[in-house]
Amino acid sequence: MRDLVIVGAGGFARETAAAAGPAWRVRGFVDDDPALLGTTRAGLPILGPVADVAGMDAAVVVCVGNPRNYAARRQIVERLGLPARRWATVVHPSVSIGAGSRVGPGSVLLAGTVLTADVTVGWHVAVMPQVVLTHDDRVGDYATIASGVRLGGGVVVDDGAYVGAGALVREGVKLGAGSLVGLGSVVLRDVPPEETWAGNPARRLRS
Ligand SMILES: CC(C)(COP(=O)(O)OP(=O)(O)OC[C@H]1O[C@@H](n2cnc3c(N)ncnc32)[C@H](O)[C@@H]1OP(=O)(O)O)[C@@H](O)C(=O)NCCC(=O)NCCS
Repeated sequence: MRDLVIVGAGGFARETAAAAGPAWRVRGFVDDDPALLGTTRAGLPILGPVADVAGMDAAVVVCVGNPRNYAARRQIVERLGLPARRWATVVHPSVSIGAGSRVGPGSVLLAGTVLTADVTVGWHVAVMPQVVLTHDDRVGDYATIASGVRLGGGVVVDDGAYVGAGALVREGVKLGAGSLVGLGSVVLRDVPPEETWAGNPARRLRS
């Protein structure tokens, strides 16, 4: 069992604490909100500001970001600049990881998620509950896959993209870097980088 400190104290951070399982002893959260110091979240202490993790003898996972600011995780990871061995990979015990699949350091897979076969998940990726990633999918670094998303085979989710809850993505489609797919969307065509698409069939909302 290794010690784990979670960066952030919001919803995703508390979900990650709950997902950590027997491999980790969760010491608490670090957060830059001064109002949180000395308080607890989900029964765990706020240990100090984010920069303090550098000096802690524990593995670290960054659990921030939401649809309005989904680049926040990358910004904090880059600011911390920790060596690769410090990043924890947190996988809920119920997650199914099929043959040939890989999950990178700093990534979190919440309960009930399935990676069928030969799926690649990059670094610092957030995968919410009940996501299905099928054969040959590639999820880039810092991407976020919200709950209930299902990707057909060979889908590419490029770095930093956000896939909203319950979205369905047709096989072989590419979601460009930094793009956002709205919740409940059915994506049938490639989404260019940095664009927001939504609906059934998904269409461009804005760049
Ligand atoms: C796509 C999204 C980012 C747009 O948010 P927004 O910029 O605030 O846009 P608005 O709510 O003002 O909607 C703009 C238009 O797009 C439509 N729209 C928004 N989201 C949509 C969606 N998911 N599917 C279909 N249409 C959608 C709205 O109906 C509206 O249409 P109108 O102009 O004809 O009235 C947001 O709705 C979304 O889906 N975010 C992801 C949320 C999520 O997955 N959360 C789970 C984790 S917490």
